[in-house]
Amino acid sequence: MAAIRKIGVLTSGGDSPGMNAAIRAVVKAGLHFKLETIGIQKGYFGMIHDLMVPLNRNSVYNIIHLGGTILKSARSDEFKTKEGRQKAYENIKKRNIDALVVIGGDGTFTGASIFEKEFDFPIIGLPGTIDNDLYGTDYTIGYDTAVNTVVSAVDKIRDTAHSHDRLFIIEVMGRDAGFIALRSGLASGAEKILIPEKKTYVDDLLKALKTGFHDEDNSAIVIVAEGSEFGGAMEVKKIVKENFPDMDTRVTILGHIQRGGSPSAFDRVIASGWGFQAVKGLVDGRHGVMVGSVNREIVFTPFSKSIKYHKSFNIELKNIAELLSA
Ligand code: F6P
Repeated sequence: MAAIRKIGVLTSGGDSPGMNAAIRAVVKAGLHFKLETIGIQKGYFGMIHDLMVPLNRNSVYNIIHLGGTILKSARSDEFKTKEGRQKAYENIKKRNIDALVVIGGDGTFTGASIFEKEFDFPIIGLPGTIDNDLYGTDYTIGYDTAVNTVVSAVDKIRDTAHSHDRLFIIEVMGRDAGFIALRSGLASGAEKILIPEKKTYVDDLLKALKTGFHDEDNSAIVIVAEGSEFGGAMEVKKIVKENFPDMDTRVTILGHIQRGGSPSAFDRVIASGWGFQAVKGLVDGRHGVMVGSVNREIVFTPFSKSIKYHKSFNIELKNIAELLSA
């Protein structure tokens, strides 16, 4: 592989808190290794439409604590086409970019994997998604912050649920993954957690609600991932209403507040460490891999694996969470 002098960095897919800390780390690591860094705006869309700006020390000054992404993010259908990727390749060649760091989730790495093979172009990925659903890393940038956002919201909802003897069905993000629901459900003492990875039978749900409501505390919290087998919180409410018409029930959909806000210390730390490792990896001749941590060790997982395999889900933890709330 030819020596790398200039790298491009982009954020793609749903944004996540800590992406800015990752961009900062990439730029600073680049300076350390005497590389120039170009910021590509709006993910792959910006590669196709030539939205690129040089990044220096000043560009990443005072951003480590900011949510969102200074580079903006997007999902690009054009990049799924051969013509789109060809345009993107021509733009990065025109700017003499030798390698890329892409920050995003499985969609981002699917694109990166195709592009890298098509043009024999070195790319390293950083896992940036609140969903934590990537194989090859225990955590993803933004997940910890999102879970903390959910927990602080549920704590507040609990106060009013308790005052009014109500059931709250709280929908959290996760179209295909229940990691946010599981961890926030456990941390907030939810009576039931509904996730896409495991079917919950209606009987189970109803039983949990009956035990959740008892003399001492006549309120309960159900956390539902948006992609649960039942659907989202509104669908769950329908089932509850059919079976317990007198139960005073409310729905809260937390939505995109989970994607924003200042990143937690944990997310800043992993974003900074992995950002450095990504650039070092490119300098060392690595490519076609995602940087992550498994059991606190830095691991480089090929894109082909990180997008193909499903990360294992700790179902036992869900059982424990529900047992502790019964
Ligand atoms: O992948 C991250 C995520 O936040 C999912 O949890 C959620 O289902 C989706 O993005 C929402 O996407 P959008 O912002 O495009 O509605």
